[in-house]
Amino acid sequence: MPRKLAAGNWKMNGSVAQLSELSGLGHADIDVLICPPATLIAVAANAAETGLMIGAQDCHAAASGAHTGDISTAMLAEAGATHVIVGHSERRADHAETDDQVRAKAEAITAQGLIAIICIGETLAQREAGETLSILDAQLSASTPDNATAANTVIAYEPVWAIGTGLTANTDQIGEVHSHLRAHLTERFGADAADIRLLYGGSVKAANATEIFAVPDVDGALVGGASLTAKDFRPIVDALAAS
Ligand code: PGA
Repeated sequence: MPRKLAAGNWKMNGSVAQLSELSGLGHADIDVLICPPATLIAVAANAAETGLMIGAQDCHAAASGAHTGDISTAMLAEAGATHVIVGHSERRADHAETDDQVRAKAEAITAQGLIAIICIGETLAQREAGETLSILDAQLSASTPDNATAANTVIAYEPVWAIGTGLTANTDQIGEVHSHLRAHLTERFGADAADIRLLYGGSVKAANATEIFAVPDVDGALVGGASLTAKDFRPIVDALAAS
């Protein structure tokens, strides 16, 4: 069984004052991660108590150079990040990120010794057209580097239609996808794939966390809105630790 991971994605939310929400989130038995905006990573990493890790929401694939506004993995590591989310559907939609770009970023992340959290997910139109598994196969194949291991890579399944909408995939839908992703990874990476963490994301909250974490091959969650306050996130962390 891989070590479970409760990951929070603050997106473009948060302030120095709101870092007080991080206190008490660490857990001895599972990995707990918060990915605040880039401006808060260093101060959050300095303030984070034992058992709480701090990550980033994106990076550039290059080590340095003329890329105004971008941030390299070395810079994120220096700021104290241990993980980097890549390929979030909001980056794919708002910044037209391709699978090739996501893979290049993931390669830079693992080369830096950080952990890549690679996001994939189908739109509602794709699900309704019966294309969910083929879309996910294509994204997973093309976004995941050949050197991915359980130690350097996490996969997050986030159905686009369930992000920030209050809609959650039901446990049958999550179970179907996660067992499919496990089989896909096993075919490509062999036995090590059993330990690659598969996170579910999309409107995870205290009220649905326990049933989601009971689904086979769900090794944790990537949580947006409900990660912004300790009041909402702590019960999710506890539900994962108890699962
Ligand atoms: P949500 O976001 O929990 O607010 O739906 C999840 C995500 O985008 O990672």
